[in-house]
Amino acid sequence: MTSTHAFWLAGRQATGEATFDVTSPWDGRLVGTVAVPTDAQVEEAVAAAHAVVDEFAATPAHVRAAALDHVSKRLVERTEEIAQLISAENGKPVKWARGEVGRAVSVFRFAAEEARRFNGGDAQRLDTDLGGQGRLALTRRFPKGVVLGIAPFNFPLNLCAHKIAPAIAVGAPIILKPAPATPLSGLVLGELLAETELPAGSWSVLPVPNDRMPALVQDERLPVISFTGSDKVGYAIMDSVPRKHCTLELGGNGAAVVLADFASEEDLDWAATRIATFSNYQGGQSCISVQRVIADTSVYDRLLPKIVAAVEAQNTGDPSDPSTDVGPLVSEDAAKRVESWVEEAVEAGARLHTGGKRDGASYAPTVLSGVPAHTTLACEEVFGPVLTVQSVDGETEAFAAVNDSKYGLQAGVFTHDLQTAFRAHRELEVGGVIVGDVPSYRADQMPYGGAKQSGVGREGVRFAMDDYTYERVLVLTGLAL
Ligand code: SIN
Repeated sequence: MTSTHAFWLAGRQATGEATFDVTSPWDGRLVGTVAVPTDAQVEEAVAAAHAVVDEFAATPAHVRAAALDHVSKRLVERTEEIAQLISAENGKPVKWARGEVGRAVSVFRFAAEEARRFNGGDAQRLDTDLGGQGRLALTRRFPKGVVLGIAPFNFPLNLCAHKIAPAIAVGAPIILKPAPATPLSGLVLGELLAETELPAGSWSVLPVPNDRMPALVQDERLPVISFTGSDKVGYAIMDSVPRKHCTLELGGNGAAVVLADFASEEDLDWAATRIATFSNYQGGQSCISVQRVIADTSVYDRLLPKIVAAVEAQNTGDPSDPSTDVGPLVSEDAAKRVESWVEEAVEAGARLHTGGKRDGASYAPTVLSGVPAHTTLACEEVFGPVLTVQSVDGETEAFAAVNDSKYGLQAGVFTHDLQTAFRAHRELEVGGVIVGDVPSYRADQMPYGGAKQSGVGREGVRFAMDDYTYERVLVLTGLAL
């Protein structure tokens, strides 16, 4: 028996006229029924957010930081319950869901810390030229206005946290729209925010259906859009509102490069284990999961069987079982799409080493080699538990292979050589290079975002705070400096 989950309208609970069901991708059971806001309620939330812009920007840092700390602490207290909820609505194995809650705890804590030190003011003397004699410029950052945060299904709690926490940290009101498949975790964040003293109107969590989003995107009272999701939707949003500030966290087809110097048994065991784990975590539904392994020919023959063995060692099954590594994808349609891409690659001549089978919404961890460059699997983001392996001759070829993609989110480079690490940093067209590990490593305080078609702007608490604000200079005159 599940009750209807209210949404959060300007800080208070509300229900609308309609509801929709959230079901488990694993067994189809009903996880929750969610109230849908009416157009009038959406308007009320936007008007309230717009009305509170000045008040929220002027709310003392200690009030905003206390609210953020409160959410962080409450997430700790409710970790197990929220992890079970994430797992139920998303199909994510509970062990990964627990990790996600832990990350959200950190995101709110980082935001509280940053709120306390943000905007101290940067003073610049202007008397370096005659015309600036006796003048001083003081630069502070101010919110651009209300943020419209649009979150994806794959990290239903933490990617909502990455939208909300930096907004509160800078005093920018936010309207958060969680993903239709996984709204419940975002609504829990509403519960925790409702326990704080933040001004009414400064935050709303509205599960607005996707087909009603264009109106919200167009609304001029929402000048900042922070979107995480597919490149197709992200660029459609940006193209529809070219004068708004859009941050887009889009797709990737993460590459892990294993170079010739990473060649001991221990090295290759580490690389294979990390690659197998992070091509399959959350069913591969992360923008930085490993999709492509690019291995030097000198290590390829030893690495490939290790990867296949490590992939086959992944426990698949019921996401609520603590020993499960790989659960279902978010829906049967998603699994069918992955299946069709793998079939297309195999028909085009790719070799299937393991996996390649679908059961409902679950897709078996899969490894392929010899995938022709023109196939969908080679060109697009698979967002499933599928890995392709290719061999290359040396660093130059390896880095060219990484860059031979329309995406550029993160890349992993397994090397011990510091010069190579710096070369990778210089040459790889990505937002982040991880040396000695997979591209899937993300620390929530570091800048995160893409090059090329992986998006624009950066998240990572402090970087999103910069993104949500702009510099305003105050020039003081007639001073004895
Ligand atoms: C994403 O899928 O872009 C988020 C990855 C992460 O936060 O680990």
